[in-house]
Amino acid sequence: MASELRAGATGNDPGGDTGLRVQCVAADLGCEQGLRRASAALRELLQDASFGRLLLVNNAGSLGDISKSFLDFTDLQEINTYFSFNISSALCLTSTALRAFGARPGCSRTVVNISSLCAREPFPSWALYCAGKAARDMMFRVLALEEPQLRVLSYAPGPLDTDMQLLARTRTGDPGMRQQFQRMQEKGQLIDSSVSAQKLLQLLKEDSFPSGAHVDFYDI
Ligand SMILES: NC(=O)c1ccc[n+]([C@@H]2O[C@H](COP(=O)([O-])OP(=O)(O)OC[C@H]3O[C@@H](n4cnc5c(N)ncnc54)[C@H](OP(=O)(O)O)[C@@H]3O)[C@@H](O)[C@H]2O)c1
Repeated sequence: MASELRAGATGNDPGGDTGLRVQCVAADLGCEQGLRRASAALRELLQDASFGRLLLVNNAGSLGDISKSFLDFTDLQEINTYFSFNISSALCLTSTALRAFGARPGCSRTVVNISSLCAREPFPSWALYCAGKAARDMMFRVLALEEPQLRVLSYAPGPLDTDMQLLARTRTGDPGMRQQFQRMQEKGQLIDSSVSAQKLLQLLKEDSFPSGAHVDFYDI
């Protein structure tokens, strides 16, 4: 699987009037080679001394095999592969970015972890996803404690109308959960990604959350 790590930065404008430069790097964050590629690109990009602000959003994620229940997870490689992408790569990329950017006088640095209600609530058939999201929240709480000059936010975006929801309502092994996801779609309760992203931006602009906090779409 290939995916993109997108980096946008305002600073010296090499390409026009907007002050925006967009750099896309294709990288599978579930394998070492992809992670190395993404890390190298981050290191190179963040060397630019003209950048006055760092905003890092850890968004990539996956559900794993949600057709299975807890007792079906006997394959260590499957489990490790899941956690490697969903937990380890976020830790590696975040530490790489923070080291590359460094502590620049007068520059703000914000790290966002895209979280989920599943970091807080157990969902049947979703052992990997719930464990991964809970672990990420805790990992970023530790970061907030260790680096008090950073702003760290775990944002749960609400039920988004994306491919992940399609998987949730068609593949979830637990029939009750599957029906719950189907009903959410039928009742038009899914949220457009851009609406949730606007709420995240509003939170970041207000900048009043305690560093390390978990904030849900419905809290705002
Ligand atoms: N959908 C929801 O209801 C919901 C609710 C709460 C939280 N979230 C969280 O929101 C975030 C985005 O989810 P989504 O709903 O947009 O899910 P999605 O439609 O399945 O998209 C997953 C995202 O992760 C990327 N990705 C998947 N595997 C990857 C890999 N091996 N390497 C690099 N990137 C990979 C995908 O990139 P490509 O498209 O390039 O493959 C895509 O950008 C996730 O962290 C998810 O847990 C979603």
